[in-house]
Amino acid sequence: MKTIIREVKEQGKLIGLVPTMGCLHQGHLSLLEAAREECDFTVMSIFVNPIQFGHGEDYEESPRDLERDSRLAGAYGCDVIFSPPVKEMYPPGYSTFVHVEGLTAGLCGASRPGHFRGVTTVVTKLFNLVRPGRAYFGQKDAQQALVLKKMAGDLNMNLEIVILPVVREEDGLAMSSRNSYLSPEQRKQAAVIYKSLQAAEKMILSGVIDSEEIKRAVEAVISGADLARIDYVEIVETGELQPLSVLEGQCLIAVAVKFGATRLIDNIIVEV
Ligand code: PAJ
Repeated sequence: MKTIIREVKEQGKLIGLVPTMGCLHQGHLSLLEAAREECDFTVMSIFVNPIQFGHGEDYEESPRDLERDSRLAGAYGCDVIFSPPVKEMYPPGYSTFVHVEGLTAGLCGASRPGHFRGVTTVVTKLFNLVRPGRAYFGQKDAQQALVLKKMAGDLNMNLEIVILPVVREEDGLAMSSRNSYLSPEQRKQAAVIYKSLQAAEKMILSGVIDSEEIKRAVEAVISGADLARIDYVEIVETGELQPLSVLEGQCLIAVAVKFGATRLIDNIIVEV
């Protein structure tokens, strides 16, 4: 990877990086399309990063199909796929980690301790290896996107972080490799997640600004699905991700919902 990048850099090309954990879907491919359009050379990393998974999470089960992923990424014009073995990324004795404080405390950071430390560490390593001018991430993982932007700014990383909209299935469910773990009945019911966010948006547009009232409505819609278990429903501002009691400015409504062992997240941003 370093040799290829050295050559590409010598040609003065702008490198676009799309970090993923594989099992590609239209969400990932939308990032790749943007990278291809805006950059001269596009790299997609496919690496299931063990250090961002907690105990009992789905690291081992994370679906892997590098052959299918390579074919798809190639069809979307990706120049190189970077899929390093775990033992090369984290050889014995590996001991350096990147941690963003504050922004990682709430939302998914609260339910998944250590998760963002794993994400920021691996993304830093990928940035150092690939040296992209632009790196592409999805709004689907809203907190991750903000945390990575903060990291890039705080650590003077020389690149632009580009955040692109959530790509959804026809019934509104945000695309995710985890959707394939759902049983047919769970999959059907999972559409309530986006419905609950749409209900919140509708309330806000009609003038409701009381956070608790909106959260209760979101929870009521999700609870309409008997297989859904709410992990969190939060309304926060988009700078520091601090909870809002009264909605004002840019508000992020973020939810995490479990269907069986499968934890799904989604969010919308509403301007008040
Ligand atoms: P992964 O879940 O594979 O997602 C890779 C990228 O695709 C992330 O930036 C994510 O936000 C984006 N993405 C996923 N689903 C999307 C959707 N429905 N619409 C738009 N974008 C979507 O996120 C990770 O991997 C890892 O944490 C990673 C950043 C690669 C670090 O290991």
